[in-house]
Amino acid sequence: MSFSLEFGEKINENEKNNLIIDNTKFDKAIIDFKKYILNEEYLQAQWQMNFGEKITMLYLLDKIKPEISIEIGTQYGGSLKPISDYSRYVYAFDYFHDKVDKSSFSNVNFITGNSRITVPKIINNLNESKLNLEFVLIDGDHSSEGVKTDIENILKYEPQKPLYILIHDSFNPIVRSGILKAHWNTCPYIHFVDIDFLHGTVFKNSYQLWEGLTLALMLPEKRKSLLSISKSQETLFNLVNKFLNHN
Ligand SMILES: C[S@@+](CC[C@H](N)C(=O)[O-])C[C@H]1O[C@@H](n2cnc3c(N)ncnc32)[C@H](O)[C@@H]1O
Repeated sequence: MSFSLEFGEKINENEKNNLIIDNTKFDKAIIDFKKYILNEEYLQAQWQMNFGEKITMLYLLDKIKPEISIEIGTQYGGSLKPISDYSRYVYAFDYFHDKVDKSSFSNVNFITGNSRITVPKIINNLNESKLNLEFVLIDGDHSSEGVKTDIENILKYEPQKPLYILIHDSFNPIVRSGILKAHWNTCPYIHFVDIDFLHGTVFKNSYQLWEGLTLALMLPEKRKSLLSISKSQETLFNLVNKFLNHN
C-alpha cells in the first residue's frame, strides 16, 4: 500500500484503516510481559490511561511519595488507586463519586461537585495551613475552558516543596487548547511545562486524538525568567490533526 501524507488528499477507507494499528492483535502477546512490570490491580481497565501513561505516573509517584495529592477526575477510581497507595493523604474531586468504593480508600477525602468551585477552597486551605501538596493529576472537565480553569486554580498554590502536575489527554485538540490558553506565566512558581511529556494517539474507532500527558513542575522559589512552554511533539500533533481533519 502506498499513500501520501499531503494535507487535503483523499484516501479511501481501506488505506485509512491500514494507518491505524489494531492493538488487539498484539494484546495477547504482550499481556504476560506487562504483568512482569505492573501489578494486576494497576493493569485493569478501570484506570483510563494507556500502559505508558500508567508507568510514567507510577514512576513519578514512587519518586515523589507525596505528602498530599490532588486528583481532579476520579470516575471509577482507577488512577486514584495508585495515587492513594503512594500518598499520605489525597483530595479526590469529581461531579459524582457513586462509582467508587469509598471504604477502600482510607486516606482519601472525596469532594463531590464541580471542580471549578470545589478546588479553590482546598487550595486556599492548603496555602493557609502550609501543607505540602506534591502531586496533582488533572483529568476531569475535558472542555477547553474547564481544563484552563482547573490548571489556573492549581497554579494558585504556593509550594513549599516541588509540586508535579500531570494533565491527561493533552493530545486531544480541545484539551490541548485549554492547556495552552491557561495563564501559566502569571504563576511565579512554575518552572517547567512540557505539554507533550508523553504524546497521545488516534483512537481506532473514532479517529479522534486522545491521551498524552502534560508535565508541569512548580518549585518553592520564584522563576527569574519568562516561562516557555515546551511542545516537544507539536510536529506529530499537527501532522496527525491536520491529516484527520482533511479526511
Ligand atoms: C476521564 S474521567 C477520569 C478518569 C480517571 N482519572 C482514571 O484515569 O481512572 C473524567 C472524570 O471527570 C469528571 N468530571 C468532568 N467534569 C468535571 C467537573 N467540572 N468537575 C468535577 N468532575 C468532573 C467526570 O465525572 C469523570 O468521572
